[in-house]
Amino acid sequence: MTASAATSDIPRHVAIIMDGNGRWARKRGQPRIFGHRAGAESLRAVLRACRDHGVTYLTVYAFSTENWVRPQDEVRGLMTLLRTFLKKDEHELHENQVRLRAIGRIDDLPQSARAELTRVMEATRHYDKGHLILALSYGGRTEITDAVRAIARNVQAGDLEPDQIDEALIARHLYLPDVPDPDLMIRTSGEQRLSNFLLWELSYAELYFTDTLWPDFREAHFAEALTDYSRRCRRFGAPS
Ligand code: FPP
Repeated sequence: MTASAATSDIPRHVAIIMDGNGRWARKRGQPRIFGHRAGAESLRAVLRACRDHGVTYLTVYAFSTENWVRPQDEVRGLMTLLRTFLKKDEHELHENQVRLRAIGRIDDLPQSARAELTRVMEATRHYDKGHLILALSYGGRTEITDAVRAIARNVQAGDLEPDQIDEALIARHLYLPDVPDPDLMIRTSGEQRLSNFLLWELSYAELYFTDTLWPDFREAHFAEALTDYSRRCRRFGAPS
């Protein structure tokens, strides 16, 4: 992702940590996957809201590198949910000309989920009206580590001098160098941490935290976050 950022009232790129599915399910005496399923509905609603409000890029933290330690049935359930989402919602991506992309260690995903993901990414790769980016088996430190390794190999091969390494070069080695950095990061459920999400890319993002649990998060909550963002004064280090 690149460092240029939107200066208008509407963020060009919104990133979301979709948190609180487990607590939402527990409140209802249901298994955690029940909350994740409801969370998929929120994702659908927010994707439509992005279209309606003119937000071009949406990146969502769907599965972190740390999430693999969750109980096997929850991990399996999440992978099934991903496949279902891709199958059920592909037509909407086409209708709205939304390109699907993924960031993370995609090779770690089970073959069936990976195949469906690759298929839909390929089928939507020519669209440019909107971009949905799924962070899957994603970790911010892993992303930076992978970039550093690739750069070190270039230095070792004699193709690059250490002094040529600057921020722009590092950014070019991250997962999606052509995507602008997020302008706004939303985290639901009252937690106020980054949890290894887009560590490099969120450097200048506005952060918005809400107590709403992700499965309850709908268009109106998203609109509230946008209104809050429009009141922020983004200085990028410049004096006020
Ligand atoms: C965090 O809530 C949420 C996740 C680890 C998974 C997010 C996945 C979805 C919303 C499913 C929809 C996504 C796709 C791509 C179909 P948590 O389980 O940690 O909640 P808790 O903190 O309340 O336990």
